[in-house]
Amino acid sequence: MTLMQSEEKAPAKLAKVPQHVAIIMDGNGRWAKQRGLPRTEGHRHGVENLRRVLRACVQEGVKVLTIYAFSTENWARPRYEVDALMRLLEVFLGRELDELDKEGVQIRHIGETSGVPPRLQKKINDATTRTRHNDSLILNVAFNYGGRKEIVEAVKHIIREGIPADNVTEELISRYMYTGDLPDPDLIIRTSGELRVSNFLIWQGSYSEYYVTPTLWPDFDQNEFHKALETYVLRKRRFGMTDEQLEAEQK
Ligand code: FPP
Repeated sequence: MTLMQSEEKAPAKLAKVPQHVAIIMDGNGRWAKQRGLPRTEGHRHGVENLRRVLRACVQEGVKVLTIYAFSTENWARPRYEVDALMRLLEVFLGRELDELDKEGVQIRHIGETSGVPPRLQKKINDATTRTRHNDSLILNVAFNYGGRKEIVEAVKHIIREGIPADNVTEELISRYMYTGDLPDPDLIIRTSGELRVSNFLIWQGSYSEYYVTPTLWPDFDQNEFHKALETYVLRKRRFGMTDEQLEAEQK
């Protein structure tokens, strides 16, 4: 079965599909522990699950998927686990690239490249260059990513370009983020129940809807994903407005 083929039947159409979904794929370690397996096995199953969720995104009509694959804080993990995560991304990009490209997935990387092993950097570059004109789904891989670091880098960039203070607006700062040309995430999903933002898209997520589920990432399948989107449909995004203003705006 290829990446985008599914054995499951297509989910019911939703009234409103979030354009941009971001996911904190948490719980791989616990999933492995429950089965007496090493943590790295949990990550391996996490990658398998990513394939399922990618398929679900294409089926549901989501346009951008941002995944938190490795945070700047993850360097503190045991060396073998850091190495395994690097290796998994490398294998994922090697094994899935043809299929992702064929399906029109555009791969992007957000985060810092410094510190990432050169071989993996090259794989990331090859994947992003090869798929840059694809437009069925943007897969934004947050790898060696930290939200505060992203803001620091944006500020440095703005100063280096000599932009006058009076010209600095929220829109301008957004354009200097790694996600510059993308819409902010409509929905941010966190698996495995933790109620934390963990330095993920802290600028872009200001008005995002959050969905937290106790399900561990390797078990967060197509049905679970659909449930998250259904919950999103029922939410009212008011962006600080009153209900009356919102209704007037939507007419
Ligand atoms: C959190 O689970 C997950 C991560 C730190 C990494 C997420 C990575 C993957 C799903 C695989 C890598 C993806 C690619 C594309 C290479 P945890 O280990 O913190 O789980 P725990 O909280 O149960 O210990």
